[in-house]
Amino acid sequence: MTAIKTGGWAVRIAGIVTLVLGVFIWVSPDPTAIRPVHMLAGIVVAISLLVLAFAGFRAGVPVLPIVAVVWAFLLPVFGMTQASMTFVPHVLIQVAHLAAGVVAIGLGEMISMKIAGPKGTMATAG
Ligand code: HEM
Repeated sequence: MTAIKTGGWAVRIAGIVTLVLGVFIWVSPDPTAIRPVHMLAGIVVAISLLVLAFAGFRAGVPVLPIVAVVWAFLLPVFGMTQASMTFVPHVLIQVAHLAAGVVAIGLGEMISMKIAGPKGTMATAG
């Protein structure tokens, strides 16, 4: 139960921080100082999603935890390699990266909801 609540809030808070820092990167003329902080917050999102995925496995949630584990690895890999993807228009990379982050946050929400059950009663262990 603690892992689920902590993981859920960590994904939520780190996700919003990462998103806001990402928007600053987008609009800032010199995002050099913001980029590493954003990357660190994004890695916290990925690790928190992993914690939630394992809580989901333990609670017997189908499919979503597997997707979340894959996503938790793809998100930082994509973030760290996107600068070298010069064969695709950069704006497409930016939109795909933003979408990948939002999906990670959404996966965290969905797993938390599935574990909590229809009435939010936390019926299963975590
Ligand atoms: C919740 C997760 C995340 C969200 C919502 C998010 C969102 C964003 C947004 C909106 C931008 C600005 C647009 C862009 O340049 O793509 C950005 C930039 C960036 N993000 Fe993320 N991001 C997330 C996770 C990560 C992670 C895990 C990493 C790497 C460890 C990462 C690395 C980067 C880098 C390097 C940039 C700068 C790209 C550039 O300067 O062109 N992001 N992110």
